[in-house]
Amino acid sequence: MTNDGGDTVGDPLFADQDPIFTRKELLHVGHVPEEDRIVGRDTEIESVAEETGAVVRGDPPNNVMIYGKTGTGKSLVSRHVATRAKNAAQANGVDCDVLYIDCSEADTETRATRQIATVLKQQTAYDQHIPLRGVGTMEYYRHIWQILDAHLDAVLVILDEIDKLADPNILMQLSRAREAQKTECYIGIIGISNKIQYKEQLDERINSSFGHRELFFHPYDAEQLQEIMRNRTDAFQPGVLGSGTIELCAALAAKKHGDARKAIDILKEAGELARRNGDTKITDQHIKQAQNVAEINRVEELTSGGTIHAKLALYSLASQVLTHSQETFSTREVYERYTQMCDIAGYDPVTENGLYKQLKEQAFLGVIESTKTGGGRSQGSYLLHRLVTDPKHIVKAVRRDASLEVLPSLADLEELADVEDRDLQMTLDHST
Ligand SMILES: Nc1ncnc2c1ncn2[C@@H]1O[C@H](COP(=O)(O)OP(=O)(O)OP(=O)(O)O)[C@@H](O)[C@H]1O
Ligand SMILES: [Mg+2]
Repeated sequence: MTNDGGDTVGDPLFADQDPIFTRKELLHVGHVPEEDRIVGRDTEIESVAEETGAVVRGDPPNNVMIYGKTGTGKSLVSRHVATRAKNAAQANGVDCDVLYIDCSEADTETRATRQIATVLKQQTAYDQHIPLRGVGTMEYYRHIWQILDAHLDAVLVILDEIDKLADPNILMQLSRAREAQKTECYIGIIGISNKIQYKEQLDERINSSFGHRELFFHPYDAEQLQEIMRNRTDAFQPGVLGSGTIELCAALAAKKHGDARKAIDILKEAGELARRNGDTKITDQHIKQAQNVAEINRVEELTSGGTIHAKLALYSLASQVLTHSQETFSTREVYERYTQMCDIAGYDPVTENGLYKQLKEQAFLGVIESTKTGGGRSQGSYLLHRLVTDPKHIVKAVRRDASLEVLPSLADLEELADVEDRDLQMTLDHST
């Protein structure tokens, strides 16, 4: 296939095929916007540049860990700054390269080192064979040190979704490589996680030997989300977006999470819906419907990295909300429902404290909110959990997991709610 960078397909047969999109790739999650299209992250860009920028002068870079909720630009900013640092370094005659490793795929030390070694081989003139199976971590490290020594002065390694990595040993190996005289090459690590708890885990497990600075990325506000989307309006055919389209998408996305991925997702889904309906304009109706789809996608994505118990925990809270006319539930109440759901799905339940940890994690991801009650002197204080997201979306998203399909569906839960309402009514009737 040839594509000379033009935006339209050459053959007129296909030219008018899409009434909605012209450059849909602008709305893809992996799309890296040009520098002037990165909105509202100037300070973050500068901070990452400050830590990694020494490579430009041929000096050793610092390591940095970036934390922040999903869709706050962590991956984008890291790739952007690392690429600019590499280009600036090369312009100064420093042989510098960037490696991007997605640890949700390369989730063990062996997989991660294998990927680093093979990507390095692809990006350099290394001619030794690197076996893909049958060898261990040591062998991959050996190749890595050799390639770095032979071909590079500096390398920036982005370890995205680093919390998915079963073992943080790779951080120590990479950061101590020079000291341990494995290689002369300078190595700078950019670790990324949307789990703040990972910070504590990391602090415990690597005992400060992995020297690094920490950065925290904040959610976007509605204005920033508007600008992020406005910079991508050339994804659409002229006239498809109405005057308030972007504002509505931004308002919906900002209201809950300030998540840029979700904002863009809503816009894309709304376009898809319009196209499927044969409409030539995106309406408010499309956007609201798109928000539901985007929300289910988002919940599914957020929980996809978590354990089955995180999903069961969320489902339990959601089903409680749906079957009771009440919004907040204590850990104990969620736990009761959770053990029943484990029973249905055939999983051994974790302890109540284990469930509490799962809920805390979801709170960080922004799926739920947990608040401490004052409690009475006799009761003590306890946590109340509330869903930030529509419980129906949670139920749908969780049941997309094949092993959790057996959990009650929305219709089942509605029936259950009727029954419980009737019970409630009966109780009320009796008490009067
Ligand atoms: N400041 C921004 N300007 C323009 N586009 C942005 C900005 N921030 C994020 N985006 C876009 O939003 C999407 C999500 O951003 P990104 O992947 O960087 O989020 P993240 O913080 O890494 O989230 P996660 O923790 O879920 O991986 C991407 O498509 C990205 O291009
Ligand atoms: Mg990311």
